[in-house]
Amino acid sequence: MKKPSLKSLSIVEFLKQEPRREARIAAAPAAPMPPMESYVANRLCAALHPARQFVKVTEVIERGENVRSYRLVADPARGTESLAYFSAGQYLSVSLKVGNATLTRPYSISSSPKEALQGWYELTVKRAPHGLASNYILDNWAVGTEVEVSAPEGQFTYEPLRDAPTVVGIAGGSGITPFVSFAKAVADGDEDFNLELLYGCTHEKDILFRKELDEIAAKCPRVHVTYVLSADNAEDCEEGHLSAERIRAHAPEGEYSVFICGSQGLYRYLDTQLPLLGLRRKFIRRELFGEYRNPSADEGYVAPKEDTCRVTVLLRGETYTLTAPVEDTLLVSIEKQGIPAPAKCRSGECGWCRARLVSGEVYIPASVDGRKLADHDYGYIHPCCTFPLGDVVLEISAK
Ligand code: FES
Repeated sequence: MKKPSLKSLSIVEFLKQEPRREARIAAAPAAPMPPMESYVANRLCAALHPARQFVKVTEVIERGENVRSYRLVADPARGTESLAYFSAGQYLSVSLKVGNATLTRPYSISSSPKEALQGWYELTVKRAPHGLASNYILDNWAVGTEVEVSAPEGQFTYEPLRDAPTVVGIAGGSGITPFVSFAKAVADGDEDFNLELLYGCTHEKDILFRKELDEIAAKCPRVHVTYVLSADNAEDCEEGHLSAERIRAHAPEGEYSVFICGSQGLYRYLDTQLPLLGLRRKFIRRELFGEYRNPSADEGYVAPKEDTCRVTVLLRGETYTLTAPVEDTLLVSIEKQGIPAPAKCRSGECGWCRARLVSGEVYIPASVDGRKLADHDYGYIHPCCTFPLGDVVLEISAK
């Protein structure tokens, strides 16, 4: 590579540029700048990364007991002409108004990137005992419901320069949704890897997308699916758990990546199993899904004496004060008050909820602390995975 000359580094030479630059500016036509959207790169950027997308439910598909898929199309009447493209494995952050609370929730896209080009996304939602957002969707969304979602987000995607040519996918329950998208994308030729999917459920009746997955596996030799039941036995299913032994039995010779999506219980179990496989760290990828719960179960967590504390929130020039349970994340407490706080992944990963901790003590579980080093050093936190240990003052970065 050519070394920069000393002349080019000289401040004197640099200053000589200024009159030349001024002369060029003076000679430039006086016509106003073309609008930003007239540039192809800007239009492409806006199409791929819209700040928000307005969509409408056009179809509701029953997937099983208390599980439904919703097909969403662009809603031009509210300003969204077409859907943003995505990579298999990404999610949409759905905005909801539930009673007084303003919520966002991430849902993996279970349709394929090719289907987004054809005009739709599909989100799949399962009822949960305390699933405020999921239960709201299941009880309220129908054909014609208008919905606001984010652009596709998330890092749970296949990267050929980082990941191995074979992915062993480990899905638990409704954590199958991104793998349905992966399987379709591999079959469509939009992803170039082999997918060896281990799908764990409690009972056979809990298996979602079985017909779709079996059809893909039958026509695409790069996709293979094994159903693993922990409390049932059924034809064409294995019995047991998603153990290291089972992963090894299905994995190829040599290197492979492991992609995981499921409950926090599955993640904790795999924390005991994956070290037995001796995989390189970069080959273990997990979808960070949902809120961190029950911090008092963590080793090293010292619960505050009081069950609640006072949280003061500074956001967009307003000051809010609320009483927050110490077992809820700061974001959950803020949302319950109807304060429109920014959030996307709710798992500590994306940084969208970033806030400055003005004062107070907090607990951040190490496993979900996705802050940049500088944020860590300068006192910024992600309220979606931070628990108060006493009275706290926060300044949320407005979006
Ligand atoms: S919402 Fe993504 S880090 Fe908090």
